[in-house]
Amino acid sequence: MSQLPPSPLIVPSILSADFSRLRDDVADAVAAAETNVIHIDVMDGHLVPNISFGAVVFSWLRSFKPAVYFDVHLMIDEPVRFAPDMVKAGADNITFHVEAPEVADDLIGAIKALRALGCGVGITLKPGTPVDRVLPVLEHVDLVLIMSVEPGFGGQKFMADQLSKARVIRPLLKHEQRLEIDGGIGPDTIAAARAAGVDWFVVGSALFSSKDRPAACRAMRQAMAQSS
Ligand code: DX5
Ligand code: ZN
Repeated sequence: MSQLPPSPLIVPSILSADFSRLRDDVADAVAAAETNVIHIDVMDGHLVPNISFGAVVFSWLRSFKPAVYFDVHLMIDEPVRFAPDMVKAGADNITFHVEAPEVADDLIGAIKALRALGCGVGITLKPGTPVDRVLPVLEHVDLVLIMSVEPGFGGQKFMADQLSKARVIRPLLKHEQRLEIDGGIGPDTIAAARAAGVDWFVVGSALFSSKDRPAACRAMRQAMAQSS
């Protein structure tokens, strides 16, 4: 894995990619976003009402993309159980949900178990979960992910009220910890997220569905620049 580019960073979410030509579509999105981080959504149909894909899919991608950082978002009931497979398949960071039944009663235990695998560790929460749920463990994670849609599907409307969580968390993070947002991010919403202190912006449909991806990324960068 090469060095991470400086923040703020547009992080393409491969859930919106064309899976019939995943390798080329991801390469195109990464080039347009001028990044070497991709966001990988794993869903089990239990924690969220959709099933996506598992480690076998991104292990293939890893063989084509050795220098890309794999930011893996586990929307599954048992993140600790499946994490070793994910790391073997190439996950650089594993983000888990505080609502996952396997870990809900022992977040610190889950963080330790994930860290023992040698990956980065992120924590996230659904829109309906109060921000207080993550505050006690902030110092133990590398990344906090704010969900700005109900997790499960790409292409949903941005929930601006979730930015209040970013405003609470940002001042509590150290320089090396990332604050990421996921859901409904595009040229019209990215500035508000930037102003709330977010530095990694997961972008699915606004990037992959755009006919001119470099222009879409330029528009997002301009919007961010104007917000600061
Ligand atoms: C939603 C996923 C997102 C999704 C974002 O559950 O976690 O990563 O791909 O897609 P957009 O950017 O279209 O909202
Ligand atoms: Zn995600």
